[in-house]
Formats: sequence, structure tokens, C-alpha cells
Amino acid sequence: MITVVGSVNMDLVVEAVKRPVQGETLLGNSFSTFPGGKGSNQAVAAARLGGNVNFVGSVGLDSFGEDLQNHLLKEGICIDYLDIDNAQSTGVATIILAEGDNSIIVVPGANFSLSPSHIQKVNEVLPKSSMVIVQLEILPETVERVLELCQKHKVPVLLNPAPAASCTKEMIEMATYITPNETECIEIFGGYSDEILKTYPNKLIVTLGAAGAAYYDGTEVVQVSGYKTSVVDTTGAGDTFNGALGFAISEGYALREAVQFANAAASLSVEKLGAQQGMPSFDDVRNRLANRN
Ligand code: RIB
Repeated sequence: MITVVGSVNMDLVVEAVKRPVQGETLLGNSFSTFPGGKGSNQAVAAARLGGNVNFVGSVGLDSFGEDLQNHLLKEGICIDYLDIDNAQSTGVATIILAEGDNSIIVVPGANFSLSPSHIQKVNEVLPKSSMVIVQLEILPETVERVLELCQKHKVPVLLNPAPAASCTKEMIEMATYITPNETECIEIFGGYSDEILKTYPNKLIVTLGAAGAAYYDGTEVVQVSGYKTSVVDTTGAGDTFNGALGFAISEGYALREAVQFANAAASLSVEKLGAQQGMPSFDDVRNRLANRN
């Protein structure tokens, strides 16, 4: 079982030709709502690939919360440990897609109600997990409690330090794997270089967008290349990488193969609009791995 602890949002997505500057009003091209949130995205990515996934998070007692619960259930994800907070709204992310990239503002709402004491309640499922995945869109003290319990029960834990601002040295030390993108790596470790990769062998895996990902295997820096693809929307590509990486490691893949598998999954995810719409099945990833272009 893979346990994902993290955020769940409704993504409010606007497509426009360009972003408005301060004080400007623009007419956009389209508006859509999609299930999102880094935690729920990573849970769906792992479940689509065939993982048995348990999601731990928090939503509000509102229509977005209800829609997101139904969606997670439809994806075959266990939500027995999803909390419902009647005092907070479900998390939302306002996403502008323009000029080939996204800009996101997240209002955490009920995601910040997920407390360390709630994690104590899920203590029973953590030791049964073959992999725990956690990100930083929930309270840092909650993430710390997850990492402490995983360390105590010797359960491998993948920390995706996004957003990077609340990542602490203690979190890094307690994680089994840490997966910043290049910008997050610079924010957390003060730079991105082979020397920095070498400080955490087989643990620090830096994602590099279309260029793939890199880590140090104890002997050399391994660059695992990405896949050429037609990009529609990059939202959720990092989450697909993390869900797929956690899935592949928990299935017993060696790290290089797991990273290659995760790169292929992420490359498929960007071909559709919305964070989760393009997330692939196991067979989709196998085909992409077999037909490298
Ligand atoms: O990583 C992408 C996600 O970030 C979006 O789905 C949005 O909800 C924000 O949490």
C-alpha cells in the first residue's frame, strides 16, 4: 500500500493569451475546474499506474469537497483517513495558463486543518505502507510528524519539497528520498550542482522538466533523460513524476529504472489540460518507455 499525505484542491483554470499586469483586466479564452492539489495529484498518479493508494488529507464541508471525495473514490483511492472540516473551505488553486506556462495561487483552506494529531490517528496505516509520499502544501508540523513516524516504523518516505519555503533541515534528514525541481533545489540547498547532488547519494533526485532528472548514485552523477512530447499543460507534471517514482520504488524497481519510469509518466501527463487528465496508466508508460522518440 502507498500512503499519500497531502493537499487536495479544486483547480480553477483560466486559459489566456497573456497574464494581466498589475491593475489590468483581460478577457480569457476558457475556464475549467479540475481536481488538483499536490497530494491528491500524486495519489491519483500512483493509483492510475496500478498502486493500492490510501490518501490522507482534509477538505471542507462544501460542494468542492464533496466533488473531490467522489473523484478520489472513482480513482480507486481509499479515503478512510480524509478529514472533513466544517469550519474551513476546501482548498482551491487559481491557475492561469498563458504563454506556454502556468502561474498558481493556492488558498489552502481545509488543507491547513490537517494536524499532527490527525496523523497520530493514521499511525496504524503508516507501518503497513510500502511507501509514504508527502509534500509541503500542508502544515510543516504535520509533515514533520509523518516523517518522524515513518522513521520510527522504518517505512520509506518520499518528500516532494513543494512549495520549498517551509522545507527544513530536519525534514531533509528524515526523508528517504527528496525530489525538488531545480528552482526548489536552489532555494533549499543554495544551488544546483553535482557537488550538491553528491551530498545525498541515492536520495536527492532533482527534476529538470523536459530534460529529465538527476541524482548521485554513490559513484557518479546519473542524468536520466526526459521525453520529447507535445505540451498542452505542465500543471501536475511534477506530481505525476513523484506519484510514479513512489509507485516504481515500492514495486521494487532500481532507482535508475524508477526515475526513467517516472520521467516517462510525467511526459505523458503534460499532453492534456488539467493536472490529472493526462496521468497515464501502467501500459501507457510501458509504451512510452518502449518507443523512445
Ligand atoms: O502541482 C500542481 C498543483 O499545485 C495544482 O493541482 C494545484 O492545486 C497546486 O496545488
